[in-house]
Amino acid sequence: MAWRVDASEFILVQNPPCIPTLAVCLIMSVFNGSKLVIDWHNYGYSILALSLNKNHLLVKIAKRYEEIFGQLSSGNLCVTNAMKNDLKKRWHICAEVMHDRPSARFKQLTNEEKHQLITKLMKTHTEFSAVSESDEQQTRFTVVNSDDSVSFKHDRPALIISSTSWTDDEDFSVLLHALQMYEDYVCGENGDLPDLLCAITGKGPNKSYYQKIIASKNWKHVQVITPWLEAEDYPKLLACVDLGVSIKKKKKGLDLPMKVVDMFGCCLPVAAINFSCLNELVQEGVNGFVFEDSLELCEQFQQAFADFPHNQDLLNKFRSNIKQFRERTWNNAWDEIVLPLFK
Ligand SMILES: *[C@@H]1O[C@H](CO)[C@@H](O)[C@H](O)[C@H]1NC(C)=O
Ligand SMILES: *[C@@H]1O[C@H](CO)[C@@H](O)[C@H](O)[C@H]1NC(C)=O
Ligand SMILES: *[C@@H]1O[C@H](CO)[C@@H](O)[C@H](O)[C@H]1NC(C)=O
Repeated sequence: MAWRVDASEFILVQNPPCIPTLAVCLIMSVFNGSKLVIDWHNYGYSILALSLNKNHLLVKIAKRYEEIFGQLSSGNLCVTNAMKNDLKKRWHICAEVMHDRPSARFKQLTNEEKHQLITKLMKTHTEFSAVSESDEQQTRFTVVNSDDSVSFKHDRPALIISSTSWTDDEDFSVLLHALQMYEDYVCGENGDLPDLLCAITGKGPNKSYYQKIIASKNWKHVQVITPWLEAEDYPKLLACVDLGVSIKKKKKGLDLPMKVVDMFGCCLPVAAINFSCLNELVQEGVNGFVFEDSLELCEQFQQAFADFPHNQDLLNKFRSNIKQFRERTWNNAWDEIVLPLFK
């Protein structure tokens, strides 16, 4: 439950959870003469419907409850234009859009900080070690110069990351097939494409099923690791990576994948599987790639990594557009959109 009391003139409450928060806050606001502002991230009743059933009586009651209390608020925020339109159409609720922001932990790192993390990961994953010898001065990706600065190697593999909860919502086989196609392509064409190291983070029901499949692949140019990361290391690894892959489809298409928001916080370009409101975050060819299937994802790997790491024009273009996009949509949003609600 994330709600905040703002000098008791306003109460800002996040929804969901809506039971009993909305009612409690509304009663408090009435008694204290303060205004209630709801921050809509989703519909509480639709989350309840996942564990019960769409037609369950409780779900129907919860829906009506959410509608009534939602309409009694004096202001509303929501996370996408799609949600804004849906609130309007569904319950005649007018909301202002405030897109999710990454937390401050997600940021860019210096080469020295990246080297530190890779050196740490090397201890548990030899995939990060230099092929020849394992001295502290170099990893597979980085080398410490004589003046103690750190450079990235020119013959390093491309590093990609995906984070999944291994559920049907995130169909891992799409990524697996794309990696297989990439392997076949590089074996066949012998082109200017680098090897890939793909880190998959996250826990979930189908993880061991896919780990067995991964282990059975004898790929020469693609390696997949499923590291267990300390919480503080995940944002750092994102900052080291060349391309993030998002396989999360939001079925209702009303909110956006937080993992991509976090990746953008680290200025990391992504290839994201398409769904209806994704373009509020990822714009194909502008700040990242949008794909529908494995074939498109594999083609995007080829585009991103042609002549990598010498030529990174496309990735650099995405990075600079992510910066602009961040400034436009996140940095000023509070002042422009939220403050007026409290005036
Ligand atoms: C309501 O008013 C009381 C007393 O003025 C105050 O202590 C309390 O924090 C207020 N609650 C809210 C939610 O504003
Ligand atoms: C993944 O898990 C779900 C539920 O646990 C199951 O229905 C599905 O068949 C699994 N998929 C695979 C590929 O194992
Ligand atoms: C993504 O899907 C939406 C419909 O859900 C479609 O309008 C849009 O063109 C697609 N975007 C891309 C880049 O394919």
